[in-house]
Amino acid sequence: MLNYDLTTLDWSSYTKIVEKIHHYLEGAEDLPTGWLHAPLENQDALFVHIEETALEIRNFADVLIVIGVGGSFLGARAVQDALTPYFGAHHDGIEVIYVGQNMSGAYIKQLLENVENKSVYVNVVSKSGGTMEPALAFRVVRQYMELQYGEKAAERIIVTTDSTSGILKKIADSSGYRQFVIPSNIGGRFSVLTAAGLLPMAVAGVDIYNLMLGAKVAALEFQESQLEHNEAYRYAVLRHALYEQGYKIELLASFEPALNKFHEWWKQLFGESEGKEKKGLYPSTVNFSTDLHAIGQFIQDGSPILFETLLHFHEIDDDLAVPYDIRDEDGLNYLANRTFNEINAISKEGTALAHSEGNVPVIQLELQKLDAYHVGFLIYFFMKACTMSAYLLGVNPFDQPGVETYKLKMMELLQESKVSK
Ligand code: PA5
Repeated sequence: MLNYDLTTLDWSSYTKIVEKIHHYLEGAEDLPTGWLHAPLENQDALFVHIEETALEIRNFADVLIVIGVGGSFLGARAVQDALTPYFGAHHDGIEVIYVGQNMSGAYIKQLLENVENKSVYVNVVSKSGGTMEPALAFRVVRQYMELQYGEKAAERIIVTTDSTSGILKKIADSSGYRQFVIPSNIGGRFSVLTAAGLLPMAVAGVDIYNLMLGAKVAALEFQESQLEHNEAYRYAVLRHALYEQGYKIELLASFEPALNKFHEWWKQLFGESEGKEKKGLYPSTVNFSTDLHAIGQFIQDGSPILFETLLHFHEIDDDLAVPYDIRDEDGLNYLANRTFNEINAISKEGTALAHSEGNVPVIQLELQKLDAYHVGFLIYFFMKACTMSAYLLGVNPFDQPGVETYKLKMMELLQESKVSK
């Protein structure tokens, strides 16, 4: 799946360090690496429980409101957008909508106005159980639910959090809400393949079995310790080598708008895992064709600080062929009967050639089909590559001290404002 043309790269200089990091990760017992082997474990009971709950929600609700931020939001949203139709409600007519990623009162108010007269379920997702943005949203949404459903509200609120700690856990216990667990050895941005991501996805109609099958195949494939046989590690090494050569920004790009939110998930995974100790590639994303007509000029000709990773799926469900038109006034009959994705594949090659000519290194990631299986595979690929990449850089991929600093400063100011009021 990985294509690149960086002939100058001396792979052999990385083989030993990659193997060392690999064995460190495999052997470590005190790291939050539960996600590494989870797809290989038997999780059937969990999947059945998730599917049953999703079925209940689809049967009884018109809308599922998912509350969460960061790793407790981006994965579910990314996969939902990648694998469900562009327009209209999702599977069985249910809408899955998200709140708690911002502190916009207008957004929350309008969201609740929008669900009035609809049957609502809520899934609040927070590993720590105390993050301000989702906590505030949950306070509002919980009161709305109690007003609408009285005592029955508790049957419609599902909490996904740590198994023992956090305020949300306490609230869930005391109010009798149903609970799913984010395992303590899996951190926020690595939790997309736990109940945190899987429940909202299943409600939206994503085939979570095939998603997890893809992740399982990836977990097997990328268990390989040797760089030359492990494409996740090769991707990590490529981006690290480019960083060392002075490229400070990686642009993830694809041509299918269904992947826009997947880009956001990727951005958080790499940004929060690597951007520390004044080091790290800045992960940025572009959505083609849109951005070819916006930021394409900069990529081609602007400051030489970035390289590009082009993500492409060879098959897209519901792809459309360009119709033949006897008038051919637009002169486009030469494209008749080609699908839009085929045209995008050629456009991608053109983009890669143009940007390479502009001295922008291009890495290509190609997968067979935009479906649950390949998305699950890709998620695992990126998590594994990201972990290797961070260790190559010499930083801990599993913490986020910068985010904690922001949280602390905001809390201090909010507390101060309380005192001075
Ligand atoms: O990756 C992370 O750990 C973070 O992005 C968290 O997911 C985010 O801050 C939300 O945290 P929580 O799930 O504890 O509410």
